[in-house]
Parts: sequence; structure tokens; C-alpha cells
Amino acid sequence: MIAGNWKMNASISSTGEWLAAMADTAVAGRDVLVCPPFPYLGQFQEAVAAGRLLLGAQNCALEESGAFTGEVSAAMVRDLGCEYVILGHSERRALFGETDELVLAKMRRALACGLKVILCVGETLEQRQSGAAESVVAAQLQLALEQLSDDDWCQLVVAYEPVWAIGTGETATPEQAQSMHAFIRGQLAARSEQIAEQTRVLYGGSVNSATAAELFSQQDIDGGLVGGASLDAEHFLKICTA
Ligand code: PGA
Repeated sequence: MIAGNWKMNASISSTGEWLAAMADTAVAGRDVLVCPPFPYLGQFQEAVAAGRLLLGAQNCALEESGAFTGEVSAAMVRDLGCEYVILGHSERRALFGETDELVLAKMRRALACGLKVILCVGETLEQRQSGAAESVVAAQLQLALEQLSDDDWCQLVVAYEPVWAIGTGETATPEQAQSMHAFIRGQLAARSEQIAEQTRVLYGGSVNSATAAELFSQQDIDGGLVGGASLDAEHFLKICTA
């Protein structure tokens, strides 16, 4: 799976141009997912209906519906054709104070609405330098591993995104990424061998067309979550075919 996370970028016209550039290109054998900002989800309906792309949201509300000004519910994004939602992204954790407990509650809401979840985990530079990278990632996985059912886990994708590599141009080396992915696989295996085998673990953090092939060829890397480089259709396609 290759997932594009547009974050708070794009416009109606740039989204139209991106879709036009992607129109004739099917990426066989890959799940290509795009997660644009909420206002542009509606522009993807044709591409989704034609099976060219999968659509995802970058976040959803904890609550089901009601007096929550400014929030967008899981059911609403599902209604707009989203199959996935990204939860626990480091930007949401750092800038909006999202905790593991909140992320778990949102996961439950999203799963109840029929969405699949991309659960993001990853350590900061400080945490890596102090040798805490694995314990931080384990802690971020813990609630989901303890509290979600095997059926829920069938709907989950994990994305390992070291915070120090996000938007910095500094990619984890394939060895660094593989090592953490193997650790994550081990965490999943401690819960269930089947979950470890079936769950896709994506790498994210400054993935680009030059680094993608080597990253994706690592044994435990099942694809990518791509931020900046997914905004440019041509560049994104190169990553998808890497
Ligand atoms: P980046 O973002 O590819 O721009 O580093 C990745 C992400 O935050 O999902």
C-alpha cells in the first residue's frame, strides 16, 4: 500500500489537476490511497468509483454526531467514499494533544463506522537519541494491542513514522526503518502470529522517489505513508511504481 497524506495542503484546482494527472495510470497490484483535506474528499468520487484510488481522511471526530462545532465525523467521511482514516499522526499528537487513549477511542469510533484505520506511531529525535525509540513505539501500540479484537485488527494498518524524519528531508535509512518494522512485527506477533502476518506496516517520513524502492524492498516494510511527495502526482506515481 502506498498512501498519500496531503495534510493541510491543496485547493479545488490543484486537486483537479492531480486527479487528471493520475487518471490514466493504474498502479497494478498496489493499493494506492490518498488522504486529502476534508473539503476535497468529494472530488475523488469518480476515481474511487472507478477503482483507481482508495480514499482516506486524515482525522475524524471522537463523537458520533451532534453539537461539536468544527468537527467532522467518521460516518461523514465514510459517506464521502473514504475507506480509511489516519489516526494518531504525530502532528495530531504533538500539535493537538492527542493521547493514546483518545486515539484508541477514535479508532473504535472509526471501526464502528466501517472505516479501516492507519494507526501512526513513531519516536522523536530526542527519544531515539536517548535509546527510547522502541519503548515509545511499543507504548503507542499497547492500547490497540490490548483492547482491540482480532476482527478489529483485520481493519488496521500500522504506519511507523519517526518524527525526526517527517517533513525534514531526512529519511530513516532502510536499515533503521527495517529494524523498527521488525520490532513492530514482533509486538504484533506477541499478541497473535496471524495479526503479525496479515497487518501491513507502512514506513513514513520524507519518502521520495529516490528512497522509496530501497525502503519498500525491506522485508517488514509493506508500503509507505507519503506526505510532501504525494502532492505532486508525477512524483507520487514514481513512488507507487518503485
Ligand atoms: P513527509 O510526511 O513525507 O512529508 O515527511 C509524512 C507524514 O507525515 O505522513
